[in-house]
Amino acid sequence: MKLQGRVAIVTGGGRGIGRAYCLRLAKEGAKVVVADLNMENATMVAKEIENAGGVGFAWKVDVSSESETQEMAKAAIDQFGNIDILVNNAAYMAECSYKPFTAYTVEEWERCFAVNVKGAWLCTKAVVPSMMNNGKGKIINISSGTIFAGIPMLLPYISSKGAIAVMTRSMARELGEYYINVNCLSPGYVAGTEGAQAMAGKPPGMEEALSSLQCIQRQQTPDDLVGTLIFLASDDSDFITGQLIEVDGGLQMP
Ligand SMILES: NC(=O)c1ccc[n+]([C@@H]2O[C@H](COP(=O)([O-])OP(=O)(O)OC[C@H]3O[C@@H](n4cnc5c(N)ncnc54)[C@H](O)[C@@H]3O)[C@@H](O)[C@H]2O)c1
Repeated sequence: MKLQGRVAIVTGGGRGIGRAYCLRLAKEGAKVVVADLNMENATMVAKEIENAGGVGFAWKVDVSSESETQEMAKAAIDQFGNIDILVNNAAYMAECSYKPFTAYTVEEWERCFAVNVKGAWLCTKAVVPSMMNNGKGKIINISSGTIFAGIPMLLPYISSKGAIAVMTRSMARELGEYYINVNCLSPGYVAGTEGAQAMAGKPPGMEEALSSLQCIQRQQTPDDLVGTLIFLASDDSDFITGQLIEVDGGLQMP
């Protein structure tokens, strides 16, 4: 087990790719805080972890709220003593419409940035004091392969995911002196999650077209991402920081 006794927070851990991260982190021995806006889903994932013999703890958070992210960090410390790993995975994605940028409202834009960009910043801000105290930490931001492709009709989402990729570099420079690594994992199109479902079939044939452009020509699943996530969360990646790692079967080669 690569992460025995470590404490990990996964935002948006209640379903989809975040759930897969939680289950694998727990399997590697981490105590996992499953943090999600949807407490019912978070509780189910925490139970799944416990049923498999791991340690899971469900917590309700809206990552766009500073007070709630501070409470989340405090709850993790009260429960487990410290925080070693943060996965900034929660996203405003399922709610995204697929439409021209002229049709997005200011409210949609602001909510997207509040969750995807401000949320990742606030969660990181909340956990960093514990990591500084430990003299070590791992922050894994989640971007998206869409940022390299100029995908149309998703302007707020794609812009927010570009911001996360850039934020990663700046955070890595500020936190290196504390031996806190900040990296960014960039998935390709993972069909089947509720987030991805919101975009399924738009435009028609998109899934098939993407798969055919990959070197490895099959659809990506959440489990395709967990190996890289564990690597970035473990000591094996101690000298890697500020990097964006594309996990997409060779679709993009940025
Ligand atoms: N599915 C894909 O094809 C794909 C591709 C590239 C990147 N990603 C990224 O991977 C991550 C997970 O994607 P997914 O498909 O599993 O998404 P999803 O929509 O299925 O799950 C997102 C989770 O985040 C939670 N969440 C939403 N807003 C929140 C908030 N304000 N506070 C706390 N939790 C909140 C939701 O309740 C949900 O559990 C996202 O960051 C997404 O941008 C996904």
